[in-house]
Amino acid sequence: MADFGIEVRNGKFLLRTGESAYACGVNAAGYLVNLHWGGRIERIEDLPEADELHRQRHRAGFLAQATRQEYPGWSNDFYDEPALLVELADGTRQCALKYQNHEIQTAADRQDLIVTLADPDYPLQVRLHYRHYAAAEVLERWTEIVNAGPAPLVLRSAQSAAWRLPRRGRQAYRLTHLAGRWGAEGQISRQPVTQGKFVMESRTGLSTSFATPFFALDEGGADEAQGRVWFGTVEWSGNWKIAVERDGFEQVSVTGGLHDFDFAWPLGPGENFCTPVFVGGFTAGGFGAASRCLHRYQRRCLLPPVQADQVLPVIFNSWACLGVDLDEARILAAADRAAEVGAELFVIDDGWQAALGDWWADPQKFPRGLTPVIEQVRQRGMDFGLWVEIESFELKSRLYREHPDWAMRFAHREPQKKVRGDVNRTSYLLNFARPEVTEYFYQALSRLIRETGIKYLKLDMNCFVSDPGWPEAAPGTERTLWVKYVRNLHDLFARLNGEFPEVLLENCAAGGGRADLAMARCFGRINRSDNQDTLDVLQLHEGFTWLNLPKLAGGGCHISDAARGMNHRFNLPHKFMAYVGMTGSLSIGKNLPKCSPEELREFRAYTDLHKEIRHISHLGELYRLASHREEPYAAFASVSEDRREAVLFAFAHSIQMGYKVPNLRLPGLNPDWLYAITNLDAGPAGRSEQARRAMTGRALAELGIGVELLGDYDAKLLHFRAQ
Ligand code: DGJ
Repeated sequence: MADFGIEVRNGKFLLRTGESAYACGVNAAGYLVNLHWGGRIERIEDLPEADELHRQRHRAGFLAQATRQEYPGWSNDFYDEPALLVELADGTRQCALKYQNHEIQTAADRQDLIVTLADPDYPLQVRLHYRHYAAAEVLERWTEIVNAGPAPLVLRSAQSAAWRLPRRGRQAYRLTHLAGRWGAEGQISRQPVTQGKFVMESRTGLSTSFATPFFALDEGGADEAQGRVWFGTVEWSGNWKIAVERDGFEQVSVTGGLHDFDFAWPLGPGENFCTPVFVGGFTAGGFGAASRCLHRYQRRCLLPPVQADQVLPVIFNSWACLGVDLDEARILAAADRAAEVGAELFVIDDGWQAALGDWWADPQKFPRGLTPVIEQVRQRGMDFGLWVEIESFELKSRLYREHPDWAMRFAHREPQKKVRGDVNRTSYLLNFARPEVTEYFYQALSRLIRETGIKYLKLDMNCFVSDPGWPEAAPGTERTLWVKYVRNLHDLFARLNGEFPEVLLENCAAGGGRADLAMARCFGRINRSDNQDTLDVLQLHEGFTWLNLPKLAGGGCHISDAARGMNHRFNLPHKFMAYVGMTGSLSIGKNLPKCSPEELREFRAYTDLHKEIRHISHLGELYRLASHREEPYAAFASVSEDRREAVLFAFAHSIQMGYKVPNLRLPGLNPDWLYAITNLDAGPAGRSEQARRAMTGRALAELGIGVELLGDYDAKLLHFRAQ
């Protein structure tokens, strides 16, 4: 529980949570400016005056951009990235946002500061929201823009927040961000913040296909375990933009939210527009602590309550072994073996449906429907789950024949056909900005869940937005599509979640194409990547956990032959796959009926081991101890919340020249407790345990523990229990 609270005095606002603090204040000109973002400040009197901080030695006595505004509207001499750009009815394209009033709202688990800014000459208001939680040391920021006058206006850019970092002269901050592509999602990238602007963005209609809406800034020397880090993420599942800027006065800011590309939002009299949340935080404990802050925030403040404290089931998924080549006999043969190897949830992936758009069982493949299959899966002691991809419809589907106008398209141009050769499929993207489309799919999915009694639904999305037209939209509103599409999807997911809280929703977009935190409000699992090459997964998992809770890390199949596809790596041992899979939400995708009895026994040993320790790896706090980006080995540890137990996974590949892996230092345990340590082993030879010398938490953090890692694809697992 963070020690949190908001204090207000003499036009200054101080928000404290745990070890961090955030402060802003009103300057003489009436602008709300940032006063502090960093470590904890106890006395509000210690904060600088709003004017003294921002006076610059410049030939102009006053320069708006030097004021470090909390939410700068574009006007006059403001030349940094603006947070708001409006077109007013009389043609004016400027706004000056000055303090009007504020209120504080307090609930048991949270506190909100809402500061209203207003333009002195126009009836335009901006309400800045700042929210703290008792359960997580982060600050949520979002903005509401209100047209309080009788004339319409158009928003051209409406960012969620502008964050200001402390000035540090010529010493450059260092930016860490997560970038990549399909099969290489969320790779860690670094660069110094020099004068100018670096823009991270998504314009695919999805949130994390090429870049994740995330930043971490440090003073150049932070690592996993130490250093001052400012971090944040935009909670949005569509187009977003984050501009990291260093201006001529060495002022560093991060402005972000909805992308202003192709953005135009008409705001009629009395209407308001609410931006997505841009959550941020500060820690002096390095990148690892920043991730743990975000993990606590997800678990305590975002995840659906039913899922927050649950461990994830061991999943069998049909995609890697059966593809779309499905029928009742094949499914049941796989189900027999899946139960034998310890799967708890049996998932039929792509291929069961009549067509994209027609979400009932393919009558050719399942002439008796899905019911007999589901019953038999349940008789084998497993829950049942299904895959869907609702955002496209196939040209051959009944839905397309009935509603061709539901395709997203421009009026006078044929939309791009989305062609997938691997499954022989041609489709169009549906326009989910249309309320009737969303409603149709809410009805279709809720019926499917009710009729089948499934306990898991994987919602996939395999294409980017290419034709963002909406001929039926009212004049001037066509470009609201980008935002309405995402809002309607979020509403649909939230409705499903509300109606079926026990159903686990998996967030998938051709892998991790939509792994943003807005999705965490409804989804209890994420397809981290379609890339199942286990060596790659070591790096994918590292990037994934910078933002996401490790237990969410799913995907089609961890123990599977899919691992071979990406890099034609054919010799990955099952043990290596299984142990890496156990760092997240373990799944199996082997063609089990073709596996030998020895292999099946081996898989069972892994799932048994996983079930023994997943209360720690899924619900504990993550420490990334070593990175496979930097070393021939990687290590991840999880420490239970009560610190009584921990597990440590260590992996190695291409150990050369007799290299001895250094001791792995394990922080996070109680320094004064003595821990019993056990090597837990499972493999082709079955299961074994080997006790090691007990050590204190202090010694484990200071001296570390030796783990012998040799050769290729080595994998070790250690368990720690307070005595
Ligand atoms: C992409 C997903 O990421 C895969 O896991 C699988 O569901 C396929 N789509 C099915 O088409």
